[in-house]
Amino acid sequence: MANMKVKALSKGLFDIKSDIYVVPVFEDDRKQFSGSVYSPFGAKISALLASGEIRAEYKKKSVFTLDVKGELKKIFFIGLGEAEKLSLEKIREAAGFSLSEIKALGAKTCASVSFLKGREDFKAQLEGMMLADYVYSEFKTGKKDPQIDELTFASDGLNLNKTIDELKAVVDAVFFAKDLMNGPSNHITPSKVAEAAKNAAKGSKKIKIKVFDIDEIKKMGMGAFYGVAKGSSEPAKFIVAEYNGAAPSKRPFVYVGKGITFDTGGISIKPSASMEEMKFDMSGAAVVIALMKIFDAMDMKLNAVFLAPLTENMPSGTADKPGDILKTLSGKTVEVISTDAEGRLILCDALAYGQKYKPAVIVDLATLTGACVVALGHYATGMMGTNDKYMALMKKSGEITGERVWELPMLEEYRESMKSKYADIKNLGEGGAGTIMAALFLKEFVGDYPWIHLDIAGTAYGIKNKSYIPDGTAATGIRLLYDFTKKMLEEGV
Ligand code: BES
Ligand code: ZN
Ligand code: ZN
Repeated sequence: MANMKVKALSKGLFDIKSDIYVVPVFEDDRKQFSGSVYSPFGAKISALLASGEIRAEYKKKSVFTLDVKGELKKIFFIGLGEAEKLSLEKIREAAGFSLSEIKALGAKTCASVSFLKGREDFKAQLEGMMLADYVYSEFKTGKKDPQIDELTFASDGLNLNKTIDELKAVVDAVFFAKDLMNGPSNHITPSKVAEAAKNAAKGSKKIKIKVFDIDEIKKMGMGAFYGVAKGSSEPAKFIVAEYNGAAPSKRPFVYVGKGITFDTGGISIKPSASMEEMKFDMSGAAVVIALMKIFDAMDMKLNAVFLAPLTENMPSGTADKPGDILKTLSGKTVEVISTDAEGRLILCDALAYGQKYKPAVIVDLATLTGACVVALGHYATGMMGTNDKYMALMKKSGEITGERVWELPMLEEYRESMKSKYADIKNLGEGGAGTIMAALFLKEFVGDYPWIHLDIAGTAYGIKNKSYIPDGTAATGIRLLYDFTKKMLEEGV
């Protein structure tokens, strides 16, 4: 839950009572300095800029205590460089930077203005500021990291309230997902994630949620999911949440998230270095539940289904073993070559389950392959799918939200090495292209429905140098899919 209160007042900036004021300064457009935000300083600010004491270059900061109409005010000037050169991502970053800096200065309340005049610009700014306030201190017994209590904007003629309300819903959902991701696997078990999803659905008239347990998973015929789940003594869960925001005849958008609450690799056990990061292997599941929260809060006019198969991947006497053959919900059989390629095993059954809704589109998100981190690093999500038009929309959403996606070629040649001597398909091929092969595996289970697969192994967590992702967990996919869904609806899908 985001703690920071955000509001807009139709007052002058310095008429708002606050510990600190965040004021943008630009290198190019000096006209900006004649605006009402700057007028109380008279010639002072121009002189400080001219002398170089206030820096206007991008992401340069200058902190001054100035006399504004007889009152001393602490002002954080944030350099934005040349307005022309600002992208939404650069605004988000500078805004996040401002917020983390003023937190470090000990401010509790902050007042600011819209850096630029566009609605999308303000949205990026507020997103940056709100996201930068995130802290995870659940298990810290000492002093907690500081947070801002209140952020107030001087409206200056702009109606900012709609954007503020929307971002409250979005950022709340992002923080919800980040808390689940940051939580250790001994606390964030499949049962806990399912409970969090149920809580998120509580009170909503539009969400119907059902959580299946391990016996039901087995009975339904999800043999691949069950094959992974039976190795753990922590009970597996399968979340099926239906959001009804349109006429029942409207085909739903189906979102599927990988929910491995801890991935040891199973019998094909992982090396111990950085294994603790495998608590993040449920990021996809956290993202789809968060998305459900946003749809509900924003009263989105569509039908949607959120599916999250949740289990640990453990080595044990009951774990699946290399060579084992599992029967999937689709009827196809899979030979397990590596028990560490478990994501595709739980997802193939969830994707097959998704088919029963005759989806308008089915999107899955998964921290699926280390190969994706090698190929794209931490700043682009790997995308593959069966519908070029929808993938083009996804790409646009990636540009707008800063959660960029990059398409990889799903060439049929790569399918060859997944042929199995004993079953219909192996869960692992040879010869590189691990991310593509994983996608080709999943493709077998989506039928003819438009499908997009997002490999978030590099982008869900481990992000460095982004001020608005202070802890490194981006929960990538929430803002991306919210924007994508809106675009799809605008397109009449
Ligand atoms: N959860 C991992 C993928 C992963 C690796 C995510 C690193 C984030 C960072 C997945 O279940 C896995 O272990 N994949 C294997 C697949 C391989 C056995 C084909 C991998 O990437 O090594
Ligand atoms: Zn694995
Ligand atoms: Zn995994």
